[in-house]
This record gives sequence, structure tokens and C-alpha cells, in this order.
Amino acid sequence: MRKPVVLITGAGGEIGHGLVTRLAPAGALIITLDVNPLERPLAKLVTREFTGSITDASLLDRVLAEFEVERVFHLAALLSARSEFTPTTAHHVNVGGTLNLLEFAQRQGESHGRPVTFIYPSSIAAYGLPSLADKSAAGRVREDQYARPTTMYGCNKLYCEQLGHYYAKHYKQLSADVIPRVDFRCVRFPGLISAVTTPSGGTSDYAPEMIHYAARSERYDCFVRPDTMIPFMAMPDGVEALLRLAAAPREQLTRTAYNLTAFSASASDIRNVVLAAFPEASIGYAVDQKRQGIVDSWPADVDDTAARNDWGFSPEYDFSRAFREYLIPTINERYKDQTKRK
Ligand code: SER
Repeated sequence: MRKPVVLITGAGGEIGHGLVTRLAPAGALIITLDVNPLERPLAKLVTREFTGSITDASLLDRVLAEFEVERVFHLAALLSARSEFTPTTAHHVNVGGTLNLLEFAQRQGESHGRPVTFIYPSSIAAYGLPSLADKSAAGRVREDQYARPTTMYGCNKLYCEQLGHYYAKHYKQLSADVIPRVDFRCVRFPGLISAVTTPSGGTSDYAPEMIHYAARSERYDCFVRPDTMIPFMAMPDGVEALLRLAAAPREQLTRTAYNLTAFSASASDIRNVVLAAFPEASIGYAVDQKRQGIVDSWPADVDDTAARNDWGFSPEYDFSRAFREYLIPTINERYKDQTKRK
């Protein structure tokens, strides 16, 4: 008999790393799909690792034949900065890949006769504030405001939110015998900051990069202005949010996509807290106007009332705790271990 499993795409990435290490000790049977082989310690936690692309429908057919997937965390994507260099590839992976996964989930759901929970991380990149004046006037942006993304990645995320809604509610609506079998749930993440992995290809990367470079005693030039403000969240809260959303009773969910935030901070707030922890750090600014433009189009803060009300989202780490109790000590430990191993 096929055993029920959780499928995680992009498992080797930042969120995937946190999710696998949270789910495995809780006894979940995890199968993963990532373009790169997983690092050894992570691979040891999973039941089966598939190496390949989410754009490869035949690979998904193999997964379908072997496993009964009851929950999908679809994390694989090209992030916002990388997507601007290769927009058609980004579209192929971010949209085409998500479409493949939604079809896969529908077929899984049909084969075991109940909905497959499909968790999808969207992003603040789904927003597009037209100007800095609008950004400062907007305050806490709600899900249905300013959804006019300026990046390929943001367009992909916003559209995939809609696709998920289609699969959950209206799939093949003119075919009398078809029941939608995808229970699609999605969050719009703010910038995520992890102490154990470094991001690649994102535009909010200046925040985690500043911290990791300082811990490694390397100089860092921040690519946005000191006053640049967006919402952030520490990775453990991000992972907890996905798990909590996945576990929420369906009838409590009033939306497809939920804003999330833990704290808003400017680049100079982050620089100051990093300098307080690493007084020897050398952190300057070398503003990249293009990436600055992207971050300027993202809200300074978002309204996450719906997530708090509907499924009890409640981040543990505010700005001060995120740095004091999670980022600085965990990063210190990480680089101390690496120095010891050398
Ligand atoms: N943090 C992501 C990025 O910068 C946005 O989701 O691309």
C-alpha cells in the first residue's frame, strides 16, 4: 500500500531547509524534489529525494505512481533578482512549474478521493507601489491594494495565487463529473532572514547578507539606501506560519492569499543592530539603482490581520528578539563550527 507523504519542492532552498528540519522529527514522511541534490544532513531526513525540475511533467508522473501525496509545499522558484536577468526562464519555472504541481495535486486528490493540501509561498513582490510618496502614504498595505507588481517574479507569484484559486474552486467547471481536489492555501511572505542558510537571487537579500558577511568578518556594501524599509520575518516564524496554515480547518479560511509580517526595518536599522553585535564589521552602501527601484516598489509594511484572525498567525520574533535570540547567536554558532572544521 502506498504510504501518505508530504512533497516538498525546492527542499534544498532556504525555506525548504527549515521545513524539512521541522517536519522530519515530528515523524512526517517527506519526499523532496529539487534541481540540486540535497546536502547530506538534509537528505538523511527524507524518505525519498528526487533530483530534477518541476517543469519535468514525466518526473512528476513517476512521483504520482509511487507515492500517495497528501500535502504539497511548493517552494521551488527563481527569486526576484535572478528572474529579471532571465524573465522567460523565470516564467517557465515559476508559472509552468506551478501549473504542473497543481495538475499533479489534482490528480493525486482524484486518486485518493480527498483534497490535497497545497501550500504556496507568494511574496511582497506581488505588490507594486507606484512611487516612494505612495509607499510612505500607503501605511499597512492590505492584500487587495496595490497588486500591480513590477517584476517578472512578482507577476508570476500574483498569477499563481490566481491559478491556485482556480484549481481550488473552479477547476474544469463545465465538466459535471470533475470535483476540484486541490486545497490551495498561500501566504505573501515579507523578506525572510535565516541564520542557517544564505539566500540566492532575491532582492531582499541585502538584509541577510549584511549579517552573514559581518559574522564571517567580510566587508559588505549594501545595495539599497539606508532609509529603505520593507517588512521582514525570521525564518523559524516563516516555517511555523506554513505549518500552521497547512493545519488550519478549511472553513476558517476566508482568503486564498494572506499577508504576513513580523517587523518592518530599514537597511540602516539592520546595519546598526549588526554593528552592535559585530563592532569590527565593515558595512557600507553601494546603491544599485535597479534593485533599489524594485525594493522601493514593495510596501514598507503590510496588514496581516486576516492571517492572525483566520488561522492564528503570531510570529515569535520581533526585530529585537529576531536578532538577539535567533540570528546573532545561531549565526555565530554556525561560523564558529565552520572555523573549527577547517
Ligand atoms: N525575498 C524575495 C526576493 O527578494 C521576495 O519574495 O526575491
